[in-house]
Amino acid sequence: MTLRVIQWATGGVGRAAIEAIDRHPELELVGCWVHDEAKDGVDVGVILGDDPIGVLATTDKDALLAIGADCVVYAPLLPSTRDVCAILRSGANVVTPVGWFYPDADQGSRVEAAAREGGTTLHGTGLNPGGITELHPLVFSALSSAVTFVRGEEFSDIRTYDAPDVVRDIMLFGGTPEEARSGPMLDLLSAGFLQSLRMMVDVLGFSPDAEVRTQHEVAVATAPIDSPIGVIEPGKVAGQRFAWEAVVRERVVARVAVNWLMGEEHLDPPWAFGPEGERFEVEVQGDPPAFVTIRGWQPETVAEGLARNPGVVATAVHCVSSVPYVVAAPPGIATYVDLPLVAGRAHPDLA
Ligand SMILES: NC(=O)c1ccc[n+]([C@@H]2O[C@H](COP(=O)([O-])OP(=O)(O)OC[C@H]3O[C@@H](n4cnc5c(N)ncnc54)[C@H](OP(=O)(O)O)[C@@H]3O)[C@@H](O)[C@H]2O)c1
Repeated sequence: MTLRVIQWATGGVGRAAIEAIDRHPELELVGCWVHDEAKDGVDVGVILGDDPIGVLATTDKDALLAIGADCVVYAPLLPSTRDVCAILRSGANVVTPVGWFYPDADQGSRVEAAAREGGTTLHGTGLNPGGITELHPLVFSALSSAVTFVRGEEFSDIRTYDAPDVVRDIMLFGGTPEEARSGPMLDLLSAGFLQSLRMMVDVLGFSPDAEVRTQHEVAVATAPIDSPIGVIEPGKVAGQRFAWEAVVRERVVARVAVNWLMGEEHLDPPWAFGPEGERFEVEVQGDPPAFVTIRGWQPETVAEGLARNPGVVATAVHCVSSVPYVVAAPPGIATYVDLPLVAGRAHPDLA
């Protein structure tokens, strides 16, 4: 049986999700919501720069939901709890990289109620959060007894992220250190990464009284740095590190961190990726320990990343791969703890 899927928004994640839906043997794209009025009525294939595929994008949410899809891959720039509730009540399941990875009662009760009303399921997944910062450390933790520490961490060149408005106006790269430190980024990121941290603490059974600590450090340019948001002038923000840690009896037991640099030159402090380069890391301390480095989710060059960033693609594919499992799940919010193993699918030529 083929599952009917709607794609919600056609940014980087949305476009990659449309490709992944097309390649998935159990899925069919039947609709697409767009925010941009200029894309209203345009064939989705054309939005991707390809031939028409016979599915027209629309800004009309009600008409879209009336077509009766099994699932929506929900990837807009700004999430709307109201829209997610409307989708769930309409009878369509939701898979999304924008939140609800491991929501507490405050974050989850409205959507949970809507899902139960619609007999549908909501699943938050992605890459970071939604993979490297909780799922993958938990997967590897199963091979260690007496776990004392888990970690998921990203080391990336932020110049490869094709969202100049976000990098400049929300992350506040290129601004003063004071602006970055007092900006909204720590709170915005914490909304997702604290869910990752709490999932690891809960699932591994660390003390529920674990104290949470957050860190936000800034590096400035020491010389002009070329970037997609323009030249970063000396003294302005060219690197940021964020970390969230759970601490039990003065021991850090779980750590989630991101290291985003505008390249590796002319930074003060002189942060660098080191000989290992850009990567994602997973660490488990226990018996035995595990140390995992993941490559492939970062582009080879800045230009390649701006054209199609593999980390964004991985985020989208993780959502799409989850669709059959989420459609089959009981109504409510389904986290990684609730779902069975989610896997990809073979290339059509090899199936
Ligand atoms: N968990 C993870 O690992 C992860 C990773 C990457 C991204 N994300 C999240 O996934 C979402 C999509 O990321 P992206 O990289 O695809 O972003 P993006 O390239 O900036 O695209 C977002 C799309 O959202 C739509 N949009 C624009 N303004 C909007 C508004 N005011 N309200 C609602 N929608 C609006 C547009 O769709 P149309 O062009 O179709 O009109 C736009 O193309 C973001 O919320 C991002 O934070 C999560």
